[in-house]
Amino acid sequence: MRKPIIAGNWKMHNTIGEARELIEALLPLIEKREREVIVCPSFVCLSEASKLLKGSDVTLGAQNMHYEDKGAYTGEVSPLFLKEIGVSYVILGHSERRHIFGEKDDLINNKVKSALKHGLNPILCVGETLKEREKDNTFEIIQTQIYGGLAGLENENLAKLVIAYEPVWAIGTGKTATKEDANEVIAYIRRLLSEKFGDEIGYNTRILYGGSVKPSNIKELMEMKEIDGALVGGASLKAEDFSKIANY
Ligand code: PGA
Repeated sequence: MRKPIIAGNWKMHNTIGEARELIEALLPLIEKREREVIVCPSFVCLSEASKLLKGSDVTLGAQNMHYEDKGAYTGEVSPLFLKEIGVSYVILGHSERRHIFGEKDDLINNKVKSALKHGLNPILCVGETLKEREKDNTFEIIQTQIYGGLAGLENENLAKLVIAYEPVWAIGTGKTATKEDANEVIAYIRRLLSEKFGDEIGYNTRILYGGSVKPSNIKELMEMKEIDGALVGGASLKAEDFSKIANY
């Protein structure tokens, strides 16, 4: 059985003080259930968040990283820095990284490889734009992003891999993909994984849905056979909303 994941992507929100307040409000609201709850604050808040989350049922994630361990990469953050702070998960290839900062599949692939090498759990994000969906290119785009993001990986490395299907048109827009559409694309991703890495990886890899997940739609999404959890943006910024999603 795949253990569900509810992950909050705080994006560029919350100062250290605000992060502290949010975590302190959130922790007492999270009920003990068979699932992993993750928060992904900005880099500058990770250290404080790590201290506050110690001994709790909530795990720490980061929103990005560089693939090299160290070097002349001004402004970048190494996987070693994340490990030292106590980060377990790292979001890679988020659509905002792809579309605002120009990240391409080969760069994202290097990051996924590096995260796995360092024992971090990558959350590889894939998803089509509205234009691509309207042109009926969704499956082609997803295949390119999955094959590109996972190129050169061996199946024995993949136990820690998590994938998030986030249709770009559903992120921050209030428009959620229908549960059937999300389930269909996620089933397709699982098929791609099975074809490439074998049925065990295909079956066991957790694949999340992301894009305007809220307390009011989490239950129906989680009832779908292929959907193993949610990557939550806006609704992860309020303790009450995020705890309702995590306790779905
Ligand atoms: P949203 O963001 O929940 O605000 O749509 C999701 C994400 O970007 O991961």
